[in-house]
Amino acid sequence: MTRRLLLSYLSLTALVLVVLEVPLGMTFARSERRQLTEAVRHDAFALVLLSEETLEGQAPGDLGGLVASYQRTTGGRATIVDARGARLADSAPSEGENFANRPEIQTALAGREAVGVRYSHTLGQRLLYVAEPVASAGQVHGAVRITYPATFVERRIRRTWLLLAGTGAVALAAVLLVSLWLARSLTWPLRELEAAASRLGRGGLATRAPVPPTPREARSLALSFNEMAGQLERMVGVQQRFVADASHQLRTPLAALRLRLENLGPELPPSARDDLDGAVAESRRLSRLVDGLLTLARAERTGSPPQPVDLAEVVTERLAAWSPLAEERSVQLEGDLPRPLPVWSAPDRLDQVLDNLLANALEVAPPASRITLTGGRSGDLVELHVVDQGPGLTPEGRERAFDRFWRGATPRDGHGGGFGLGLAIVRQLLATDGGSIELRPASSTGLDVVLRLRAVTADSVS
Ligand SMILES: Nc1ncnc2c1ncn2[C@@H]1O[C@H](COP(=O)(O)OP(=O)(O)OP(=O)(O)O)[C@@H](O)[C@H]1O
Ligand SMILES: [Mg+2]
Repeated sequence: MTRRLLLSYLSLTALVLVVLEVPLGMTFARSERRQLTEAVRHDAFALVLLSEETLEGQAPGDLGGLVASYQRTTGGRATIVDARGARLADSAPSEGENFANRPEIQTALAGREAVGVRYSHTLGQRLLYVAEPVASAGQVHGAVRITYPATFVERRIRRTWLLLAGTGAVALAAVLLVSLWLARSLTWPLRELEAAASRLGRGGLATRAPVPPTPREARSLALSFNEMAGQLERMVGVQQRFVADASHQLRTPLAALRLRLENLGPELPPSARDDLDGAVAESRRLSRLVDGLLTLARAERTGSPPQPVDLAEVVTERLAAWSPLAEERSVQLEGDLPRPLPVWSAPDRLDQVLDNLLANALEVAPPASRITLTGGRSGDLVELHVVDQGPGLTPEGRERAFDRFWRGATPRDGHGGGFGLGLAIVRQLLATDGGSIELRPASSTGLDVVLRLRAVTADSVS
């Protein structure tokens, strides 16, 4: 948008400059030619007067000295010829004795003034000439001609064009600066709003756009956006509180229900034992679901602020915690991270993230396979790859895996698998710390879960 505004300001200015400067330059060129011609005509009249008596034979005179001093003072070439066109005096080295074949001399000897520009084959350039007859009582005694190379006046005209072009360039540069400032001040609120909208879209419900004092439209847009974001935050808050409260309230009666079911055991006949075990398992599953929902609801609240945590240490701890289960399933757990690897995270949040990812990986890892945790610093981020050698996920599965309650095709434990909440929780926990998660196919088989966390840098600490 800034570029378009700049382009429109500049093209408008360029148009105005062309419309103003081109006629100005042309008028100047015309008047410059006219002025010079007038000045040369004036000089030619003066030379006519000074040489008249000598040409009429009334008094001797130094015509050579006259034309030489004219050329010295003005730079123009002066030539005086007699009535037949023969040279009497010439301020420049002459190329011939007779000038009668020159059209302007012919006109002057015919008693008329000749003014114009013509190409001289003898000199190989264009000449501005003025030729005046020297006449008295109707008789022409000779002619005076003054010539200037046309480049003399053209150089001055070119200088004027350059001056006009320079002025135009300065005006364009000034307009560029002013319009840059103007365009920035117009697009700044929109850019801020765009950034705020994308932060809101990524889940930052507390985001508000700065409200500019002007222009009016941008101001009211920012106000409406902030109102909408506030409304959204309130609505989501109400919903999250409801889920958290409902989950919390459900936990106690569920625990009581399980206890009652388990206590029923001795009183029931053996034939009813299977049904009772089924009911107890279902009630456990229900408890796990409620716990998952509660964790998710808690993760969605901003919670405690991030602080520097050594990711390498957390990984080592979690690998140690999961190694008994891995051994039981003959799966090898490997961690290879540079130490220390400080990242921004709230205490215990990374433990929950890794627990979910390791639980997922162990569920799918075939016996004798490996689960590796590698990574390191990459710019301002720290990347962690959790790679397993399980069946992996299809592109559609990788996209949907973060949806709540979405589960893949393979049920993974005897009780019908998880609830499809783990990755949703992980993503939410990471987002709270300013991190992200991505699922990629592993190079051979399996899934490569990529976590990106904000690295603790010198800048981010201060
Ligand atoms: N490492 C993995 N390899 C293959 N599929 C995976 C992997 N991790 C997750 N998935 C698939 O993504 C789905 C969603 O995972 P998620 O962790 O959200 O839920 P869940 O493990 O099924 O249940 P929960 O974690 O709530 O107990 C899983 O059901 C599974 O199909
Ligand atoms: Mg899971």
